[in-house]
Amino acid sequence: MEQQQNAKVILGGNTFELPVMVGTEGERGIDISKLRSLTNYVTFDHGFGNTSNCESAITFLDGEAGVLRYRGYPIEELAEKSSFIETAYLLVYGSLPTSEQLRAFSESFNQHSMLHEDMKNFFKGFASNAHPMSILASMVCSLAAYYPGIDAMNPTQADFDRIVVQLMSKVRTIAAFAYKKSQGQPFVYPRYDLEYIPNFLNMMFSSPINEYKIYDEVVQALKVLFILHADHEQNCSTSTVRLVGSAQANLYASITAGICALWGPLHGGANEAVIDMLELIHKDNDDVDKYVEMAKDKSNRFRLMGFGHRVYKSYDPRAKIIKRCAHDLLAKLGIDDPLLEIAVKLENKALTDPYFIERNLYPNVDFYSGIIYRAIGIPKDMFTVMFAIGRLPGWIAHWKEMMDNPAGKIGRPRQIYVGPTQRAYVSINKR
Ligand code: ACO
Repeated sequence: MEQQQNAKVILGGNTFELPVMVGTEGERGIDISKLRSLTNYVTFDHGFGNTSNCESAITFLDGEAGVLRYRGYPIEELAEKSSFIETAYLLVYGSLPTSEQLRAFSESFNQHSMLHEDMKNFFKGFASNAHPMSILASMVCSLAAYYPGIDAMNPTQADFDRIVVQLMSKVRTIAAFAYKKSQGQPFVYPRYDLEYIPNFLNMMFSSPINEYKIYDEVVQALKVLFILHADHEQNCSTSTVRLVGSAQANLYASITAGICALWGPLHGGANEAVIDMLELIHKDNDDVDKYVEMAKDKSNRFRLMGFGHRVYKSYDPRAKIIKRCAHDLLAKLGIDDPLLEIAVKLENKALTDPYFIERNLYPNVDFYSGIIYRAIGIPKDMFTVMFAIGRLPGWIAHWKEMMDNPAGKIGRPRQIYVGPTQRAYVSINKR
């Protein structure tokens, strides 16, 4: 990496020099790793809004310009021309596969799509109203007990290749089984003759008395959503995967932590929260203006879900594609969803309101995705599970990139302590 002229920090009359790093797209960062040993100061950055934790060659994002690229390829091109499996290969292995590599990669998904039969017993133990994200996290962590893990620090290439496919393929089966559990229906096993997304749809929606008809429009829409969710550099869940993995935790454990982080409504759980919000507005006579006003009111905790982003200060390029995709799919399936109309009204109202304009708040990836899932028949509490299926290749790619870095360190932030200073213990009868 090219090095620029040093940054200077002046503290107590002394000047200290810190190196400046420059990324391949020209972003600059001040390397403060020696700051404390030089000055005894640490930096403070609530929510890591201005802190890089790593160098990464996976995803480039320019939030001001609305640019997103995986391994250099624009997200728009991948969403249109690639498949989810090809994009996953690109993220995990760094380059687009040859046709032979892609064939072998896709084929291996079939070999690893089943769950160990004993694991089916786990599903029996969950309450029938268990949230599928809770089931997903528990089951992914349990995979470590059934399938040999890999040596986090020293995986052989063959072990790593196997675990990538195992995770991606079995997570899809776990997700479909979690849904079947919630419906009280028998599990539908994966099929060898179906590709990744049709196989998932079949496991979700077929039953012993009804074979689900797989529509190409639905497969295409899910493909676009999975590709758009596949990575987003150092977001909350990916940073969690890296932080847990930095302790040399195995890949299953690290991914489980990522799934739990994703569940939160400020992150991947927002897709479910958006539909809750749109349903609420619909029940309230579609009164969009009232909810926009509520979102602006600082004495009210209500926020427009699916709006705003830590790094995008312009329209999220993923939301643009998803919005178009939602309109197309509903038109093709002949569905008239009042929630889509409310979402469009809400967006138009917010984007012309000074509060949202001044703060650069735009729809994010979660704003329109739920409308697509609803049209497909996927229930609300499964939305974040769908996000997790899509995000898996990104989490794996980041874990691997971190493990491959010989200079890797355990993640361990500092703090500014603001608690009591030393005081003497007072025994209970004197308090
Ligand atoms: N509705 C109303 N006001 C908002 C919203 C919103 N959705 N988002 C941000 N703001 C306001 C904040 O109140 C703040 O106002 P202030 O400057 O007057 O205090 C300002 O915009 C900046 O917001 P922050 O919360 O400081 O931004 P931050 O980067 O910390 O948070 C976040 C980003 C969590 C995404 C936030 O915009 C939010 O809560 N959005 C709704 C939840 C959501 O959609 N999450 C999904 C994000 S995409 C993803 O993770 C996959």
